[in-house]
Amino acid sequence: MGHGSNLTAAVLVSALAACWFISLLWAHQAPLVRSDCAKRNATEAHGRLGGDAAETSSEETRRPRDGACAMAPESRFDCARDRLLSQRGCEDRGCCYAPLPHSAGPPWCFYPTLYPGYRMGPLTPTARGQEATLTRATPSHLPREMSTVHLEVTGGTAGCLHLTFKDPSSQRYEVKLPAAVPQGEDDAQDALYSTEYQSDPFGFIVRRRSNGRVIMNTTVAPLLFADQYLQLSTALASSLVSGLGEHYTSLLLDLNWTSLTLWNRNMAPHADANLYGSHPFYMVQEEDGLAHGVFLLNSNAIEVMLQPTPALTWVAIGGILDLYVFLGPDPQSVIRQYLQVIGYPMMPPYWSLGFHLCRWGYTTTLTTRHVAQRMHNATFPLDVQWNDLDYANKDRVFTFDPWRFGDLPEMVEDFHERGMKYILILDPGISSSSPPGTYSPFDEGLKRDVFIKNATGHILIGKVWPGQTAFPDFTNPETRRWWEDCIRDFHSKVPVDGLWIDMNEPASFVQGSAEGCPASDLENPPYTPKVVGGQLSSGTLCMSAQQKLSTHYDLHNMYGLTEAYATHSALMNIRGQRPFVLSRSSFPGIGRFSGVWTGDVGSDWEQLRYSIPAVLQFGLFGVPLVGADVCGFGGNTTEELCVRWMQLGAFYPFMRNHNDKPNAPQEPYVFGQKAQAAMRSALNLRYSLLPFLYTLFHHAHTSAATVARPLFMEFPTDDNCQAVDRQFLWGSSLLISPVLEQGAVELAAYLPSGTWYSLHNVSQTPMHPFYSKGRYSLLPAPLDTINVHVREGHIIPQQVGPALTTVASRRKPFFLTVALSAGGWAWGDLFWDDGDKLHTFETGHYCYVTFTAGQVGKRRVTFPLGMNWALDGLVLGGLQVFGVPSPPRYVLANGDKVKDFTYRSDTKVSSVGLALPMSEVFSVQWAL
Ligand code: NOJ
Repeated sequence: MGHGSNLTAAVLVSALAACWFISLLWAHQAPLVRSDCAKRNATEAHGRLGGDAAETSSEETRRPRDGACAMAPESRFDCARDRLLSQRGCEDRGCCYAPLPHSAGPPWCFYPTLYPGYRMGPLTPTARGQEATLTRATPSHLPREMSTVHLEVTGGTAGCLHLTFKDPSSQRYEVKLPAAVPQGEDDAQDALYSTEYQSDPFGFIVRRRSNGRVIMNTTVAPLLFADQYLQLSTALASSLVSGLGEHYTSLLLDLNWTSLTLWNRNMAPHADANLYGSHPFYMVQEEDGLAHGVFLLNSNAIEVMLQPTPALTWVAIGGILDLYVFLGPDPQSVIRQYLQVIGYPMMPPYWSLGFHLCRWGYTTTLTTRHVAQRMHNATFPLDVQWNDLDYANKDRVFTFDPWRFGDLPEMVEDFHERGMKYILILDPGISSSSPPGTYSPFDEGLKRDVFIKNATGHILIGKVWPGQTAFPDFTNPETRRWWEDCIRDFHSKVPVDGLWIDMNEPASFVQGSAEGCPASDLENPPYTPKVVGGQLSSGTLCMSAQQKLSTHYDLHNMYGLTEAYATHSALMNIRGQRPFVLSRSSFPGIGRFSGVWTGDVGSDWEQLRYSIPAVLQFGLFGVPLVGADVCGFGGNTTEELCVRWMQLGAFYPFMRNHNDKPNAPQEPYVFGQKAQAAMRSALNLRYSLLPFLYTLFHHAHTSAATVARPLFMEFPTDDNCQAVDRQFLWGSSLLISPVLEQGAVELAAYLPSGTWYSLHNVSQTPMHPFYSKGRYSLLPAPLDTINVHVREGHIIPQQVGPALTTVASRRKPFFLTVALSAGGWAWGDLFWDDGDKLHTFETGHYCYVTFTAGQVGKRRVTFPLGMNWALDGLVLGGLQVFGVPSPPRYVLANGDKVKDFTYRSDTKVSSVGLALPMSEVFSVQWAL
């Protein structure tokens, strides 16, 4: 935005930080462009929703001012998102009409510059920041528009600006995340941003203070605020945008006039569909490696239109505009700032990082036992055996089939005795058609009034697997108590270790309810974002359904979050140990309570490939414990696909092989010996790395660090990393480069600048380090190999030796992989605790070890700090050091000569066999 001497009517107020502001009267320079409006043709209308016959605008025709329509097509902002408008209808709105050869792409009816809208009153200081009143004199076309909007601006921390737009005259639904505990940090005085306001028409600009870059500019199109239509557009600082899940996309979103709807839906992942979760958060990579993020805290149906300007338009059809801007300045800081608002992720139990096996169709305990036994016999690690809905008596949750699953309690005990865990599925739909007195979850629920009601106050009945079902309202505290009682009662018989909460969008097989839904503006809003099925209630409940906190219209997207919260706290209270919950539906903040899986992915190569951006995006959304169904859920897998998926899945933070009922089996042991060997080696590799993975989760829990990490977060100034989503990192130090194509036995992998050592140097094939200046390299990837590289300067704690569960793997000797930097140093750490107890970090019941390697004179030293009891009885069994230039003359461990060491001059790897207690400070030295 310019502020030169060609003055027009607009006024800017500039505020450097929320806590104080300088009031400057600047002038907005209208774009100096020529109008082509005169050339407009009266052509047929541009195809979108409905027709404009119904639009009976009583407004006087507001002609755009001269030159106000002359923006380039990619910079047009749609003035007729809500309906199809002819030229006349468009001009009646005071908008510009300029048809193009295609109906897809830029809008034909678009806002002129300085389109009249809200006018901003003075920005005045408050105890928390600043506030202003926005008023509009001329109504827009929207029904039930707010003539006055209250703006509040606060800037709690240096990197975070918070703006809320509310209707001052009525109570509208506002999302309150369950007990969100913002973790305060730096001082708002050093704000990384400055803000400027255009008063008429209202708009604001957020700049990065360090370089003046415009992060948001909402003056590009008008703010709209009606009862069921809230719209805010902004220019974007670059085209490198990620987030706005859950969708089937690459890591970078397509800005070519793409519309993304955020509306939780039971829908197998595919392009152009709203999927199970909603995350109204995006992150933008700026040109110079900096990044920022924007979060719209709103649970109503949201549509986001992306356009190549680059720009973006939020449309929410209810609630308020509760907007957070995170200034980073680096990508990882953006995520930390976001998670300070929505909550840091939970610390998962150690065992949950092991391998999980599930399928729909383990129809008896006998089958389930048999599966676990065959895994064991074939020496595949398996920590957690699962059952799908097969266990439930007539598909009713909290029951088990007396014939097919009669010995379920004993089976679970048997698994426990073998060091395994057991999880089963729990759908929220509670069967409502059993005779009274025969199904207590429903009877009790009725008594305690826990179910969602329809518009007339009767229990809303939908349809899920057991037939007619009622849906618990988890926003009601009594429902959460009832839920806990149901789980407690069931757990007293079947001591499950975690719960899998499925179908919680919530999904229903009838639209709205068994009786349909009453006609209303909630069921048929003036504007419905593009959703699968066409109606908001498609595949779910009526929008007019009543919950304790508000209507389902407002709360739909939070159903899974509220269920995850209730289930997490129930498990915590019942088991007294760290809960494990896996949810399908998600909303910001769910990572505090639950992991997520990406739903019903198909067993094909494309779905394998897109599982990486899906997993990476959930990391950005604060849900590090995430994975896709390994080998694919829908359709038959193939041996090769399943091998490659097991290899990639070994690096999903959450790894579960799960399969649909009608499909061919896909447990690792059903395949040929070569395939089995490849899968076993992938699983063993994962298990050896679990101490490292667990430490990454500790950092996610305590400092919001991402676990599975996009390359751009670690190498933000390397342009080649911006779009990489076929490879990813674990933390900052392991680079995973899987095969994603059928038949491929090599792959082109990007190795950012630095030295990268293949982790497979543990095996026989010598692999030379890659000294990369940031380039693609062709890596061999035969069927038994997934390429994993260790970044120079890092030490990876591992536990080696075959182990079939984490109970066993946690007792194995530790092993350090030390990847020396060019300068000869490396660093690593280890978080260790009992793996299952609650709040170990918060109560100090853990051990945190750092390892450093560096040169002391001519020797290199490795030693840990901060030892305590948590590592008692565990030994350091050895190290391998990558990047040792010449054979060591001798090696000392705690001062004593070590006999057991080797050196390979071809790979420059030195291996040392040790037996040092991990619970004491140690040093290993070698002389070259
Ligand atoms: C849908 C889930 O996405 C899938 O994983 C599960 O197997 C089925 N429901 C049956 O419970």
